[in-house]
Amino acid sequence: MTNIILCGGSGTRLWPISRTLMPKQFVKLFNDKSLFQLTVERNSKVCDSQFIVSNAEQYFLARDQLEELKIPDAHLGKGLGIQPENDKDCRYLLEPVGRNTAPAIALACMALDEEEIVLVTPSDHLIKNEKAYKEVIAKAKAFAEDNSLVTFGIQPTFAEIGFGYIEADGFNVKAFHEKPDLETADSYLKAGNYYWNSGMFCFKAGVFLEELQKYSPTIYDACKTAIDSRVKHENDDMIRVKHEDMLNIPDDSIDYAVMEKSNTVKVVPSNIDWSDVGSFDALYDELEQDTNGNTKNDKHIAIDSTNNLVIGDERVIATVDVDNLIIVDSGDALLVSKKGSSQKVKKVVRELKEQA
Ligand code: GDD
Ligand code: MG
Repeated sequence: MTNIILCGGSGTRLWPISRTLMPKQFVKLFNDKSLFQLTVERNSKVCDSQFIVSNAEQYFLARDQLEELKIPDAHLGKGLGIQPENDKDCRYLLEPVGRNTAPAIALACMALDEEEIVLVTPSDHLIKNEKAYKEVIAKAKAFAEDNSLVTFGIQPTFAEIGFGYIEADGFNVKAFHEKPDLETADSYLKAGNYYWNSGMFCFKAGVFLEELQKYSPTIYDACKTAIDSRVKHENDDMIRVKHEDMLNIPDDSIDYAVMEKSNTVKVVPSNIDWSDVGSFDALYDELEQDTNGNTKNDKHIAIDSTNNLVIGDERVIATVDVDNLIIVDSGDALLVSKKGSSQKVKKVVRELKEQA
């Protein structure tokens, strides 16, 4: 089983630590490891090899972080520094520009054998129950062998509108609803037979491509053209897609392009302690805290201050009599926000783009 790792996102809700050139998945937030590194470590235990699909700009970041891990080559499947003869033995697929997840996954699947079972995972999530994770992956693999497109269902706890919802009937999926409005999300929560879509998928490469061709033929055709004229230099362990070919691929996510439309979707309920670390509020819950509820940080001097998220490793950050704040210092930018409001951080990025 090959792990397709999606690294193309930029994660604007974690500004200013997540930037275009240093997106959230590569920021070392957890004991000096990044979410990308934790993803590779976790999945190298359940997959035979990794296929990293990322923006060309982030290739060196991904490669350096992979090498830092010191995972034995045997567990990295293809081995570092190999000189593959076939596309399927490459480790990286580089996109000159991102066209969202449907093309990223399609291009990777086109480079692999059609019978290969793939585990598609984002690079920016946290999964803490690895024992349960191994079990759900085994279950998903069995469904994928039977030609299903497999999703992983997370028990929802509130009406999040940034996720996809899986309407389940046992392991079968009645319908897949990507990013509903609040009222609809609320009704799903009350109905009880809906899961959040985790953003991970498992299927045979060929089965996914057949469904893509059936439901989103323009994406399929454009990806096929792009992969047919890909660039692969000798001695490289990467495939590059040409800029002009990439621009011709329509921008769409796997959720809209395939999952909402396909009739062969299964869901594996996944009690795996999952978080998409989608905001500073979510990040606070995942980071280690001291007895006053402040996140552990050598640079933070807290005087009668409690339950604050304080990130920054350059300057001293002192707080006096303040509670429930989010303070993030990246050296060139400083964010101060109330806890509970961190979803609005993406508005800062929008504002900055307008000013630029
Ligand atoms: N290579 C590549 N190229 N990767 C990409 C691209 C791209 O153009 N666009 C996004 N990605 C990566 C992101 O880095 C992330 O790891 C993953 O693909 C998913 O993309 P997001 O942009 O984060 O999707 P989302 O969060 O809006 O929604 C998805 O995840 C939710 C769970 O977190 C959907 O699958 C939802 O249904 C799901 O609930
Ligand atoms: Mg996401």
